[in-house]
Amino acid sequence: MKKPIKVSASILAADFAKLSEEIKRSEAAGVDRLHIDCMDGHFVPNLTIGPVVIQAVRPHTKLPIEAHLMIEHPWDYIESYAQAGADIIQIQVECYGKRKHACSQYGQWPKEVGSIDVELLRRDLRKIRQLGRKAFIVINPGTPLFKEALSECDGVLIMSVNPGFAGQKFISSVLSKVQEITEGFKGDIAIDGGINAQTAPEAIAAGARVLITASYLYGASNPQEIVRFLKGLGN
Ligand code: DX5
Ligand code: ZN
Repeated sequence: MKKPIKVSASILAADFAKLSEEIKRSEAAGVDRLHIDCMDGHFVPNLTIGPVVIQAVRPHTKLPIEAHLMIEHPWDYIESYAQAGADIIQIQVECYGKRKHACSQYGQWPKEVGSIDVELLRRDLRKIRQLGRKAFIVINPGTPLFKEALSECDGVLIMSVNPGFAGQKFISSVLSKVQEITEGFKGDIAIDGGINAQTAPEAIAAGARVLITASYLYGASNPQEIVRFLKGLGN
């Protein structure tokens, strides 16, 4: 039997001036998780928020919080994010390998790798689990699917945009990775970036079961309808 579709609200497109209201609105809309995009201005060309905001948000919701770490040296921060109250910690595999030539310099994006240090990645995934949190790997559009550490993963997040900003166009070529991961992997298969009424059915057909959405959800006048529509696609 197929797993039900879960919707994760990416607060990047929420109004940060009234975050707790926005979170209540997302809860009322029926989302399953909150997705918090943590960007450092180095791994991606944008800066957002860190553990202090997760700590501030934590008492305002019972929804599981996922921290999507778009940061260099994630290993230095895993504990802080766990302590701040993240339930799921999502780490980018591009932090565990030699960067491709086109993104090897400071200020070159998107970050992509052709190979990774699997032992290092496993170490961090284990660390996340030892802290009692769920461990996900995240894979950028230009990075291949690395399967070597899947036994240490509770989920795999396939990026369908180059990370950094909300409101970008869905890159459909990543769907082959979604399809590939469905073969044998029992954890969550999530997709992030450019999800909307047109792209969500494609993502689900490929095997995604967790849809992460920012602009489509927060830009809607009736977010409840959006969540109902997305979940209904799984039937
Ligand atoms: C991109 C972020 C996504 C983003 C999704 O760097 O990781 O979570 O907020 O935004 P939409 O749904 O607008 O593409
Ligand atoms: Zn994200």
